[in-house]
Amino acid sequence: MIKPKTRPAKTTNERMIKVNHAGENGAVSIYRAQSWMVRWRTPKLLPQILENLTHEKQHREIFKAYLAKRNIRRCVSYHLCGIGGTFLGLVTGIIGGKAIAATTYAVESVVLQHLETQLAYLQIHDLEAYEAVCLIIADEQAHHDQALLALKGTNFWTRGIIKIVRLSTEFVIRFGMRSPLKN
Ligand SMILES: [Fe+2]
Ligand SMILES: [Fe+2]
Repeated sequence: MIKPKTRPAKTTNERMIKVNHAGENGAVSIYRAQSWMVRWRTPKLLPQILENLTHEKQHREIFKAYLAKRNIRRCVSYHLCGIGGTFLGLVTGIIGGKAIAATTYAVESVVLQHLETQLAYLQIHDLEAYEAVCLIIADEQAHHDQALLALKGTNFWTRGIIKIVRLSTEFVIRFGMRSPLKN
């Protein structure tokens, strides 16, 4: 079967979903790499990480389906998110539970803020994209809340991780949302 020719995302709503798709690939990569590390470092954390990994794979599929339906090309940052996420997952997985919680908390707090902004826009401009985002919000909120609970009092290192991860997540979103010249 011949694959249809893909096109770049043109509108703000399409760019939002393209960025979400790349971000979910990053989230899958973080949890997958953490799952490899906690198997031998802190096995009690494994069930929760595997459950979150399952959610992130579902989220990635939701956005992938939206893009596929419109023949929209995935974000140029898709593989970058995968590589960055794997690196982050490996490092924090080795450090242990607090570093894992700090990473999840940092990613999800930025993501939830952006999803709220997206919902307000998409409700008016693109109901299909709106419904796709609605499908993932409860999971992201649950990941955020679990992580916050597990953090219980930050220290110098967890504060550092939170800052770096927040900035990286913001960067990925801004980079993906820029007006595309050739993506
Ligand atoms: Fe997600
Ligand atoms: Fe999540």
